[in-house]
Amino acid sequence: MPRVFSGIQPSGDLHIGNWLGAVRNWVTMQEQHECLFCIVDLHAITGGYDVASLRRRTLEMAAGLVAAGIDPERAVLFVQSHVPEHSELMWLLNSVTPVGDLERMTQYKDKSAKLESIPAGLLNYPVLMAADILLYRADLVPVGEDQLQHLELARGIARKWNAEFGGGTDLFPEPQGLLGAARRIIGLDGQAKMSKSLGNTIGLVESPEAIWEKLRPAVTDPARKTKRDPGTPEVCNLYALHRHFSPPATVAEVAENCRGARWGCLDCKRVLAERMAATLAPIRERAADLAAAPERLETILADGAATARRMAQETMREVRDRMGFLAPTGQPAARGATA
Ligand code: TYM
Repeated sequence: MPRVFSGIQPSGDLHIGNWLGAVRNWVTMQEQHECLFCIVDLHAITGGYDVASLRRRTLEMAAGLVAAGIDPERAVLFVQSHVPEHSELMWLLNSVTPVGDLERMTQYKDKSAKLESIPAGLLNYPVLMAADILLYRADLVPVGEDQLQHLELARGIARKWNAEFGGGTDLFPEPQGLLGAARRIIGLDGQAKMSKSLGNTIGLVESPEAIWEKLRPAVTDPARKTKRDPGTPEVCNLYALHRHFSPPATVAEVAENCRGARWGCLDCKRVLAERMAATLAPIRERAADLAAAPERLETILADGAATARRMAQETMREVRDRMGFLAPTGQPAARGATA
């Protein structure tokens, strides 16, 4: 059975971009694959963060994922910092990662351009991502489009490490990125990728009222100044969202009424708000139940970390051995100490 790994930062509530781009795919994949899903708190500290809220955000993300359908009976759900082997493998992978490759990463270029002093963690971020995936020797990595470049780098790191230390048998499979039906959800500003840091999101567990308050001012077809101007659905982000939340008949009705200038943008938004609230209602209910039983989440995360750690330790024994480290006294090396 192919093994699946993916991660998400604990940057507050899950939003519909995360859900449509990745998490919905995770929920489907857990039916037929061995899956590990990780809340990547170590990644969340690379660009300045709020210490006081990190614990709460980590638990909220776990609640959001379970509410969205991640089933701890089928998938391993855990917190990255609970498995210290992620940091260890990252350090070891640094030895086969060219700095030039890291400097070419688009996300690094975008984020570092805004900073006066660049933390080394921002540059090494994709090495930690590679470590996350390779630690479990995962085959498939379901993500949104923005992570594909990092995955390509992870493949290169796996290849280099295998060539240098594989000794004829590759330890790491080259992980394949897997895109879902929604590769890149645009935010409510109608321009940038939906992203918590840009404040252009709709949360997965927002109330119907909050969804409406956010959709009401959302940017639509900029050429449509008044209700009487015929619109072009294909250039409107709200129409794109309809395609994800409304049934085909409604999508067709929206397009027709927009083109024919029969509906104004607010009419279209009202229908979208209703469809979105209806689609997300079961997730919101499950999240409320989970919030009322925090000990259930703690158990899920503790069990997840224990399972992940067993797998991680197995890989690390092999990695340390192949890289020539002396095993501590009393502990056998993975394949019996090599000469
Ligand atoms: P993160 O936390 O930014 O996002 C989690 C997942 O959601 C996807 N996503 C989107 N997809 C479509 N449209 C959007 N607007 C949108 N916003 C987010 C992301 O592509 C991602 O799949 N570095 C990663 C986390 C990570 C990881 C890993 C992923 C750490 N280690 C190992 C895979 C494998 C990140 O910051 O994702």
